[in-house]
Amino acid sequence: MARKFVITSGKGGVGKTTICANLGSRLAHLKQKVCILDVDIGLNNLDVVMGVEKQIIYDIVDCIEGRCRIKQALIQDNNEPYLYIMPSTQSLHSNKINKLQIKSIVDELSSIFDYILIDCPAGIDLGFHRAVFSASEAIVVTTPHISAIKDASKVVDILSTYELFSTKLVINRARGDLMASNEMLSITDISHLFDIELIGVIPEDDNITTCLNSGGAVVSKSRAGMAFAQLAENIQYNSNKIINFQSEYKGLWGYLKRKIKRKI
Ligand SMILES: Nc1ncnc2c1ncn2[C@@H]1O[C@H](COP(=O)(O)OP(=O)(O)O)[C@@H](O)[C@H]1O
Ligand SMILES: [Mg+2]
Repeated sequence: MARKFVITSGKGGVGKTTICANLGSRLAHLKQKVCILDVDIGLNNLDVVMGVEKQIIYDIVDCIEGRCRIKQALIQDNNEPYLYIMPSTQSLHSNKINKLQIKSIVDELSSIFDYILIDCPAGIDLGFHRAVFSASEAIVVTTPHISAIKDASKVVDILSTYELFSTKLVINRARGDLMASNEMLSITDISHLFDIELIGVIPEDDNITTCLNSGGAVVSKSRAGMAFAQLAENIQYNSNKIINFQSEYKGLWGYLKRKIKRKI
């Protein structure tokens, strides 16, 4: 039986798809069989972020409507052999698909994989509930910005009405330099605003954008890559070690680094 995570946030653009892709890749690197599932029906983009959009023959809606078997829709990742992607569809018949149909796909995948990561659409309406319904655990993503924190808090409240085994927090796009100079809410400030456990902090990292422009958003040898690797270990081994990206910007040398970063 797989562990079934929904990656959600309420607000769009905070990094759910990026986290799904990178967490999936790092868990697969730990020799876990992982399927990342795009349930953003009609607005798919996980395939683009994973760089597999040209390999799609069948998608999740084809599986639901019986045009193919589940294994025919799965695409193996180009870099991690333990990682598979189940793409969503571009066709706009989103409302025809219900949560029970998605759950039947997730349940079938559950017997093949160790982890299923469900990339949740933005918002808290039909698409959100369709994604959460099949999950047994949730990861709520926020950035250090107030609007994202407010939406994530609302999502945590809604998730408490589901019988989830756990709901944990990931803070994405953390700027160590701005946190050290008190120009951005610190990790401690943010985690105090939630009563769920913090299991990952991902720094702002230009490598994510440059990787995406060259055909995929999975980063490895960068700060974000290290943070994604730690997040995967925290999930796999039930730990909560957080890499501190703020400390290098403290003290005199840190002050100089902050000034230099500002000038770039
Ligand atoms: N830690 C990060 N550092 C830099 N850019 C990021 C980071 N996380 C996400 N992004 C960028 O933010 C944008 C939105 O991310 P995405 O994963 O698509 O968000 P969502 O799925 O929540 O809508 C993308 O352009 C992505 O490359
Ligand atoms: Mg997304």
